[in-house]
Amino acid sequence: MGYLVSLPDGYAISDAPERLDIGAIHRFISEDSYWARGRDRATVERALANSLCFGLYAPDGSQAGFARLVTDRTTAAHLSDVYVLPAHRGRGLGKALMAAVLGHPDVQTIARWTLSTDDAHGLYAGFGFGPHPDLRTQMWRTRRPGEG
Ligand SMILES: CC(C)(COP(=O)(O)OP(=O)(O)OC[C@H]1O[C@@H](n2cnc3c(N)ncnc32)[C@H](O)[C@@H]1OP(=O)(O)O)[C@@H](O)C(=O)NCCC(=O)NCCS
Repeated sequence: MGYLVSLPDGYAISDAPERLDIGAIHRFISEDSYWARGRDRATVERALANSLCFGLYAPDGSQAGFARLVTDRTTAAHLSDVYVLPAHRGRGLGKALMAAVLGHPDVQTIARWTLSTDDAHGLYAGFGFGPHPDLRTQMWRTRRPGEG
């Protein structure tokens, strides 16, 4: 049985991979996101296939939003690619998406959650996220695809 959260006004959130409109998700991420503009479709598809994905669906069944969790479903999770389409914003759906992610039965043992955001700190703060208390202990590495 998949994970399905029914929301007011006919919206729903589901973890069913087959329900994801990959074209719509790719369109938003590659054209409208600030974090992965230009990402090609094959990269989006591969990332989705290897993540725990949450689709937000409008009453007509269309893709109204999305969130992706990079996770072992046991110890750690990194939240990514969170969006709600402009036409559906400002009615609590971003918060519902966050609540659905954190409420998923497969992630209940996870103690370490991470994410990056330019400006949505307030949204995530409502769900217990905050600045890391000791950045000295945190390291990261970035590289272009194909670099060693
Ligand atoms: C961020 C986003 C998902 C919020 O979706 P939404 O459905 O409008 O969110 P909600 O209606 O549930 O409200 C979000 C809450 O977070 C707050 N918030 C904080 N930072 C925010 C931000 N940058 N954008 C939107 N809301 C923000 C809002 O004020 C609101 O709080 P309130 O209910 O106490 O007023 C949506 O604006 C979006 O897709 N933005 C573009 C993509 C993006 O920036 N994604 C996040 C990347 S880290």
